[in-house]
Amino acid sequence: MSTGRITYSPAGLLMPEHGLAENALTNLAPQLETARDEVLADAKLWAAGADVPSEKQPLDAGFHELPDRLLTEYRDRGAESEVARLQATANRLASAVDRVVVLGIGGSYMGARALLEACCHPYYNEVSREMRAGRPRISFEGNNVDNDAMQGLCDLLGRGRTTTEVADRWAIVVISKSGGTLETAAAFRILLGQLQTSCEGDASQVAQLVTPVTGTGSKLFDLAGALGCPEIFPVPDGVGGRFSILSAVGLLPAAIMGLDIVKLLEGAAAMNEHFQTAPVGENVVLDYTGICHLMEAKRGCDIRLLSTWGKRMEAVGLWYDQLLSESLGKHERGAMPLTVVNTRDLHSRGQQHQEGKRDKVITNVTIGKCEREPLAIGRSELDHDQLNELAAKTLPEILDAATKGTNQAYREDSRPTAELHLPRLDEHVLGQVFQMLMLATVLEGRLVGTNPYGQPGVEAYKKNMNAILRE
Ligand code: PA5
Repeated sequence: MSTGRITYSPAGLLMPEHGLAENALTNLAPQLETARDEVLADAKLWAAGADVPSEKQPLDAGFHELPDRLLTEYRDRGAESEVARLQATANRLASAVDRVVVLGIGGSYMGARALLEACCHPYYNEVSREMRAGRPRISFEGNNVDNDAMQGLCDLLGRGRTTTEVADRWAIVVISKSGGTLETAAAFRILLGQLQTSCEGDASQVAQLVTPVTGTGSKLFDLAGALGCPEIFPVPDGVGGRFSILSAVGLLPAAIMGLDIVKLLEGAAAMNEHFQTAPVGENVVLDYTGICHLMEAKRGCDIRLLSTWGKRMEAVGLWYDQLLSESLGKHERGAMPLTVVNTRDLHSRGQQHQEGKRDKVITNVTIGKCEREPLAIGRSELDHDQLNELAAKTLPEILDAATKGTNQAYREDSRPTAELHLPRLDEHVLGQVFQMLMLATVLEGRLVGTNPYGQPGVEAYKKNMNAILRE
């Protein structure tokens, strides 16, 4: 296995006391392989454009082959491909403005935020444009209806200020597959008004500064056409919101941040290949799904805890929270996802995880290599904190000791953990992680007989909200 590949080790969980028997995963192999065959068949059925049998509907399996399709198109069509057009639009915006407001909610928001937090400077919006490699700041809105937060953003954007200075200019990327989600649409209308003012009503300038990502024929699509936006990027049919991170939904914000979107897609394509070919015991998707499923079925662990170490994977965890909740939380079934950030949450949730109900399966997400030089604590004349004896220890060494110490404490109380290991945080690795977790989610759906696509339960609140508003 190459060192750039993410790995999953359930070794800690394969122990009889509050874990699983050593051969538990091997015994589940036939069911996992049958579920994998079904996921692969779903992808083929979808790609062939064949009629979807009623028992399979909805079937939004388009996310599966999307990375390979976009990469092939990029190689075959070059500058005309969607990937090249995304890069060109991102570069045009980067040279024109110093802030891009990304509007979207749910699957149209979580992925871009995950990419920003995992791959960009930890203080991305605060550091100089030079330290951002000339890329614009990113602000997220349209993911709530919070009056004061929106007012605060309007302050930041400089209400009514007109300027030709790049440092004060901003643009909008509005993302909505349906093109009719109220939170996003309301934010877009408010900010579009402000953008028009900042461009002194110059419609052609406004059009250049608005980039929509939406389904063909949506209300947003029509509005973008009326505005004259030069590019409208698609959310392809058959790619559901929470499965859309590797479409323009995630790729456009990523390209604006200066991330290498080809590497992101290549990581996902490598995961597709791995999923299809590696056997149980060596397949991160099959093994992760199998262990989580067994811990739920045999140990009653229906809280699925993604325990991230360090600060950068929290939003990836939140993206996964949505993926798992909306995909499998149906028919009064489905595990409850929970993302924690350690060591921070050892000081808040840690007590419960160590001594509370035995209803959690803990997957540690560990990262092999820091991007920057390890920082040591250092010596001080003032040793009142008695840290001189640890002066040579670096922050990665302390994090490692905390991880090991926590796992040891869990193990000693028969609360075993598994590990998802990422060699480092870069686009290729993140591409693998996103595709792995999307595949694992649909695989589990097929394994337990829950259709992972569609989210009928989300419609109820929207219907009621709209009825109340239009009364
Ligand atoms: O996964 C989903 O489909 C949802 O979370 C959607 O992404 C979310 O509701 C936003 O929908 P839209 O992109 O249509 O505005």
